[in-house]
Amino acid sequence: MPIQTIETQPFSDQKPGTSGLRKRTERFAVPHYVETFVQSIFDSLEGFRGKTLVIGGDGRYFNDTAIQRIIKIAAANGFGAVKVGQGGLLSTPGASHVIRHSRAFGGIILSASHNPGGPDGDFGIKYNVGNGGPAPEKLTDAIYAHTKTITRYLTYDVPDIDLSRLGVQQVRGMTVEVIDPVADYAELMQQLFDFDRIRALFASGFRMQFDAMHAVTGPYATRILEDLLGAPKGTVINGVPLPDFGGGHPDPNLVYAKPLYDLMMGPDAPDFGAASDGDGDRNLIIGRGRFVTPSDSLAILAANAPRAPGYAAGIAGIARSMPTSAAADRVAEKLGIEMHETPTGWKFFGNLLDAGRVTICGEESAGTGSNHVREKDGLWAVLLWLNILAARGESVDDIVRDHWATYGRNYYTRHDYDEVDATAATALMAALRERLPTLAGSRLDGKMVASADDFTYLDPVDGSVSGQQGVRLIFSDGSRIVFRLSGTGTVGATLRVYLERYEPAHGQHDLDTQSALAPLIAIAEAVAGIRARTGRDAPSVIT
Ligand code: G1P
Ligand code: ZN
Repeated sequence: MPIQTIETQPFSDQKPGTSGLRKRTERFAVPHYVETFVQSIFDSLEGFRGKTLVIGGDGRYFNDTAIQRIIKIAAANGFGAVKVGQGGLLSTPGASHVIRHSRAFGGIILSASHNPGGPDGDFGIKYNVGNGGPAPEKLTDAIYAHTKTITRYLTYDVPDIDLSRLGVQQVRGMTVEVIDPVADYAELMQQLFDFDRIRALFASGFRMQFDAMHAVTGPYATRILEDLLGAPKGTVINGVPLPDFGGGHPDPNLVYAKPLYDLMMGPDAPDFGAASDGDGDRNLIIGRGRFVTPSDSLAILAANAPRAPGYAAGIAGIARSMPTSAAADRVAEKLGIEMHETPTGWKFFGNLLDAGRVTICGEESAGTGSNHVREKDGLWAVLLWLNILAARGESVDDIVRDHWATYGRNYYTRHDYDEVDATAATALMAALRERLPTLAGSRLDGKMVASADDFTYLDPVDGSVSGQQGVRLIFSDGSRIVFRLSGTGTVGATLRVYLERYEPAHGQHDLDTQSALAPLIAIAEAVAGIRARTGRDAPSVIT
């Protein structure tokens, strides 16, 4: 059967964002939309003939439809083999590991991460390169350029693959291997962490609840926590992935994982609570009576990583996204290791990890990970926490307080204004940028602005420069306000305002976060005119 060449036309809206192409599902359902984007990816790559492509997604509605089409396009374009997770499932970190472990040419991940799924929800397609990490900007730019000029895609008119059957099948000259999505990943986790010690912790009566939010980590968490580590059955809740995530919003934050939060703050709280998002790369960590902010979690994990066998030799350096709090910087300073501040998005960590300059990375948006893969990894963070809890024999709250006593506390919050008018949001950012030169050196509500800029990143490994990564106001006492627009939203614009203030060691560490940051919140409103420009009285989500 010959290769089919199907005529197509460019779509004007296929520019990859912070994490691949993300749109409403109905947009992806438009004829040729998926095919055009996937062919544009392949047209941007060189040297993949005969090589392996990894494919998997978070199981959301349209996952299997997209996978069947991608397999046929991959075959027609000359890939030699595809590895695909059974049922079309692979968590994002799981896919990253399979790409690395099988020395694949790259991979395609189907997910809109923490956004809701279903016919009225969101869908996404992302390409990852051979190191297992998201495509760097120069590649996503090339993909975008191809989407603007594409005229045809290649495919085969052949039956679908049976994604439920483990083992090898054939699409013309290409082999398709349906793999157990969990096996390789579980193996890797056993190399990094002290499973015996964590097993002993559970055997001693330690109680945990893990909310998989009906998303992809269900099978991973059940296998690792309950089967391999002996946590009691029922430790993992909402463990079956569903195409619409059970109607939920699979974002493990205090708004969408509220039931877990309430449990952990209640009288019968277990010792440890955790959750992960749609595609398994984010994490939520809550101890009994103690929510751990992602920025603090990054700092604590970095400080304690050598307690896990995989990091026993110490860590080379830490990287965080610019809006993430500076808590981790204090750990790096004390350890005398490198610290890097990158733009938002995991793709900027890849070069630093590949060059061995950093071992642990994190973002304030509930993303933490290490050099074991090239994506953030929700379950990895949970397992490192478990390893540290088992090794230290203290509660989450004790560990957090001890950390603040040693390093000081960075009070931190993010205020999101979702689905605001895109023109208004762009105008707000433009007005801020225009004021930058006069803001530096001025006083706002009595606080001295030490510097005001739009963050530009110079990648120390490949010398590439990324500009316009967020407006920063840094005050002379070290506190900060950062404004940026989301690159992952699918409707209108999302304005993110990040607020941070440092309280030194042995200072006041028991204030309510929003109260502790109230003066900065007021300055942010005064400087940006959020209410007047967006018509919003309050943020949609506070994390
Ligand atoms: C958001 C987060 C960012 C994360 C990305 C993908 O991007 O802020 O840290 O890397 O999702 O999970 P944003 O919508 O802010 O562009
Ligand atoms: Zn995600």
